[in-house]
Amino acid sequence: LLYNYDLPLIKQQVSKEALAKRQDSFWKFRELLPLKASNQISLGEPYTPILEASFEYNGEVYDVSVKDDGRLPTGTFKSRGMAVAVSKLKELGVKRVAVPSAGNAAAALAAYGAKARMDVYAFMPRDVPEVILKECIRLGAQVYLVDGLISVAGKFVKQLAGDYGWFDVSTNKQPYRFEGYKAIAFELAEQYEWKLPDHILFPTGGGEGVIGIWKGIRELMQLGWIQKAPRITIVQSSGCAPFVEAFVRGRSEIKTSWKKAETIAAGLRVPFPFASYLVLKAVRETGGTAVAVEEKEIVSSMKAFLREGIYAGPEAASTLAAFRELVKNKVLDKKEKTLLYITGTALKHFDSFRVDKSQVHVLNEDTRALRLDREKSERTC
Ligand SMILES: Cc1ncc(COP(=O)(O)O)c(C=O)c1O
Repeated sequence: LLYNYDLPLIKQQVSKEALAKRQDSFWKFRELLPLKASNQISLGEPYTPILEASFEYNGEVYDVSVKDDGRLPTGTFKSRGMAVAVSKLKELGVKRVAVPSAGNAAAALAAYGAKARMDVYAFMPRDVPEVILKECIRLGAQVYLVDGLISVAGKFVKQLAGDYGWFDVSTNKQPYRFEGYKAIAFELAEQYEWKLPDHILFPTGGGEGVIGIWKGIRELMQLGWIQKAPRITIVQSSGCAPFVEAFVRGRSEIKTSWKKAETIAAGLRVPFPFASYLVLKAVRETGGTAVAVEEKEIVSSMKAFLREGIYAGPEAASTLAAFRELVKNKVLDKKEKTLLYITGTALKHFDSFRVDKSQVHVLNEDTRALRLDREKSERTC
């Protein structure tokens, strides 16, 4: 299910100029959201910044733009979908919500659900990053860990939602979360003065973000507010890449579950995404492609981002690895304006880096004791 709007009518009601005068937040696109403005549940969602960054690869320097959704209230782009979904569900009178999640969607639902005074039930794989587990618990969600991946978590929600009166907020199984992600396209369009970049690289697990952006781009085109759509390229880990496999084989949907899904990027570990045909359609329609990157490339990209001062979590860091891959294979032209989408902050993931504390200087109060030992002051992780 996807929402349809009376776009010709909305075009009469609101203009780009009127939007420019409103406070920068995705809520400013209220005419294009499915709820009354007075029912918005907000935790203070800003426009997230677009940063310029340069990366060296094979002796060449590449300039890219980076949009950092790590700055959203729950540290990931999942804030967008859950802010809109929870607001709409509250408007509809829903009091209990349940979600299967790799982690960040549950955290976002827990945060907005807390603000909306809803009961939140979160089902996650038992090896969900510990920081996210703690986050969900402290936000007041009722947490269940399952032996298995998000698909197993999904079975619990599907089978029990009716018995317990939960509204099932699963990825791609309701129309509300897309509406939050579609505002990514609106926000980007305004930030780029209504000319979107040529190419967006987006980390993809269930594909909800991609469907949302694509929907937003289509609405912008129909409103006549942008003339050209960007190519949307999905990025996955080679440890779980069902979309990439389906795309490369020319399939219109994913037919079987990915075996032994494993990746450090928990949000990309979705072995059998629901409504996969929509994601593949979005990618093909925009002329984008699908790339799988190696785990070690994800880790090295996270480090490369941090050396630029950019806090990209593992899912987000995969876009830089994909960028390198596309440049290597000449799929991406250096002159194209490329945007790497940072879907989540590195702050939730620092504990996945090992640091040898014995290599770090410990100083007592005697300042004379400090001798700069070059070896020791080299990077320790
Ligand atoms: C940080 C992050 N990036 C990307 C994704 C993938 O998002 P989607 O399921 O919409 O493809 C997730 C999913 O949990 C995530 O947490």
